Amino acid sequence: MNNALQENKKYKKFVVDSRLQYFKPHATKIEKTFAEEISSTLGSNSKSIHPKFFYDNKGSELFKQICSVSEYYPTRTEISILQKLQTELPPFLDEDFRLVELGSGSSVKTRLILDFFTSSQKNTEYFPIDISEILTESSEELLNDYKNLTITGIIDTYEGGLEFLKTYDDKKNLIIFLGSSFGNFSPIDGYKFLEKVYSTMKPGDLFLIGLDLVKDKTILESAYNDSEGITAKFNLNVLSRINDELDADFDLKNFSHYAIYNEKDQRIEMYLKSLADQSIVVSKSDLELKLQKDELIHTEYSHKYRLSQIHDLLDDVGFELKHTWLDDKKHFSLTLVSKN
Ligand SMILES: C[S@@+](CC[C@H](N)C(=O)[O-])C[C@H]1O[C@@H](n2cnc3c(N)ncnc32)[C@H](O)[C@@H]1O
Repeated sequence: MNNALQENKKYKKFVVDSRLQYFKPHATKIEKTFAEEISSTLGSNSKSIHPKFFYDNKGSELFKQICSVSEYYPTRTEISILQKLQTELPPFLDEDFRLVELGSGSSVKTRLILDFFTSSQKNTEYFPIDISEILTESSEELLNDYKNLTITGIIDTYEGGLEFLKTYDDKKNLIIFLGSSFGNFSPIDGYKFLEKVYSTMKPGDLFLIGLDLVKDKTILESAYNDSEGITAKFNLNVLSRINDELDADFDLKNFSHYAIYNEKDQRIEMYLKSLADQSIVVSKSDLELKLQKDELIHTEYSHKYRLSQIHDLLDDVGFELKHTWLDDKKHFSLTLVSKN
């Protein structure tokens, strides 16, 4: 039941060669969404910008840099757990699985999983799903390094990519969602997202999710306020993107990065703070934005979890828990679940 042809109505297909193809929604749909969403979220009383808009080329590059700043423990910690999984995950798999990744980004961590997929399979299929074009660059690099890999990239939102996958074919999928990106969802949206993952999966499919754990507030706040100021640049870059793509006139000197840990709601909250009373025009969103000095634009939540909350949440959605792996300091978790 290969429905790729049917999908072509919503997606444009780019075949690079026999090992690499991409699917991308038609451009008009993407541009319209960006202008409309900014109009609605910056035009409302509690102003916000959705974190998915961080990831233009510059934003994706800055995120790569964040991953190696000393204060940002999640990347190196998750990598240390993935190293354990190189021997501990294969017993849950057989040779028929394809690897699907939500928010694949630079696919650096993916390599730790591709290592054992490609060494045990004759041909490994990898489906990265990411809203950013960085996916094309990372795919080329992977193909150079893994000779028995074929890649089908879906350049779309998580939800769009899951819809794509749902009707694609009958092959077994291991879906991975790393970097605690799930923490960006509000609890309600997170629940709906997990239901979407669940409904996309076929019986026997597996889902591996990396989630950051509740820990000391100073460790958390330093991770999002690194001394090199890369996270600040990453946060502010979304305003440059709006300037470039939606003809806006944000003056970045009039904003600062602000990130704090909200203990009650177990989340880092990231904002752009207006440093003056100011007014900004976003032409393509048909918006004139008025901001007061110290007013905050919300840009990201990064929720932190207790293990029991992770297990309860996955259980409520209907998943069956297979295993949870932790690092030595219990800072980060990777949980494997199945749909039976
Ligand atoms: C925080 S980075 C994590 C990258 C990588 N998985 C890691 O763990 O280091 C989030 C990635 O997800 C992508 N992304 C963010 N929001 C998205 C959305 N709503 N739909 C699809 N991709 C999204 C971004 O482009 C980015 O590559």
